[in-house]
Amino acid sequence: MDKPLLKALAGEAVRPAPFWLMRQAGRYLPEYRRLRATAGNFLDLCFSPPLAAEITLQPVRRFGMDAAILFSDILTVPHALGQEVRFVEGKGPVLGPLDLAALQPVGGRLDPVYETVGLVRASLPAETALIGFAGAPWTVAAYMVEGGSSRDWPEVRRLALGEPGRFAELIDLLVEITVDHLAAQADAGAEALQLFDSWAGLLPPAGIRRWCLEPARRIAAALCERHPAVPLILFPRGVGALAAEFAGIGDCVGLDTAADPAWAAAAVQGEAAVQGNLDPMLLVVGGAAMERAAREILSALRHGPHVFNLGHGVLPITPPEHVAALGRIVREAP
Ligand code: CP3
Repeated sequence: MDKPLLKALAGEAVRPAPFWLMRQAGRYLPEYRRLRATAGNFLDLCFSPPLAAEITLQPVRRFGMDAAILFSDILTVPHALGQEVRFVEGKGPVLGPLDLAALQPVGGRLDPVYETVGLVRASLPAETALIGFAGAPWTVAAYMVEGGSSRDWPEVRRLALGEPGRFAELIDLLVEITVDHLAAQADAGAEALQLFDSWAGLLPPAGIRRWCLEPARRIAAALCERHPAVPLILFPRGVGALAAEFAGIGDCVGLDTAADPAWAAAAVQGEAAVQGNLDPMLLVVGGAAMERAAREILSALRHGPHVFNLGHGVLPITPPEHVAALGRIVREAP
């Protein structure tokens, strides 16, 4: 366990801080766009192990991050439960009608994902860790109920707050399949796991505790039984000070763009490693503004375990040179 990322996730203040970027593989990279153009629809790409493995490795080869994150998507899980999932060019994900009673795991649908994990593990540099991931139940449920992305997410919020008994059935099912999906990635060679709760911030505090924190606790407990040595990173985006409550559950808490790293040093770092949290737009802007902001984050979190990352995913308009420059800033930080 001498990989820098794994040391930091185990609570060590590793310097330079290990770094990787959410959505580090994707449309900002010309080599991704070239491969993407040959593949047809996006889910087919996620389920083609040699192509998905190649895309996983592209950013690591170019920029030398401390971790590769499996190339896949959080919406492979509703697909594996039998709900139709398509990605429409220029629009994003579109899901078929949700029939709660009909949802059940379709055997083998996620096997290509685990095959990809094995392929990547076999060709990663020795010091680079492989992160597997899943969407958190609330965020995946949001896409399943809404049928795609939404500005206000009215249907899922109404269901969660207005019919909690019925909504709990969906969340419970997602907790179960998420545990299986993450454990299978660890079985196949993933060395750390991240749970993306990108839409946690849509809920009021009691809703965050019930639909984000409690499911995360159950997932963490089940994974701890099956894979006690595999650390779990939680990314509850938009929850403000409630992020500190996630520190008691995961090995690491990912901060979103709005979180103050100085606050997190005091409120989170004593209990868990902290990951984050440069504004992805500063990576687009680059130059002195990016450098100043990155150094402030590194400095605020320097006394405890820190994994440098963005506060959300890399934007498609990001110049790749800025990612290279950010890597140098993190590596050369005082
Ligand atoms: O981080 C990585 O590099 C690993 C791969 C990864 C993707 N999606 C690839 C992807 C990961 C970890 C995700 C997670 C994901 N997917 C989340 C949680 C993180 C976040 O960004 O909040 C969410 C909400 C999704 C759902 C999703 N997938 C949406 C809404 C979209 C469409 C919007 C968009 O950015 O295109 C996707 C598509 C998607 N997932 C792409 C990639 C590279 C772009 C697809 C394409 O090439 O056309």
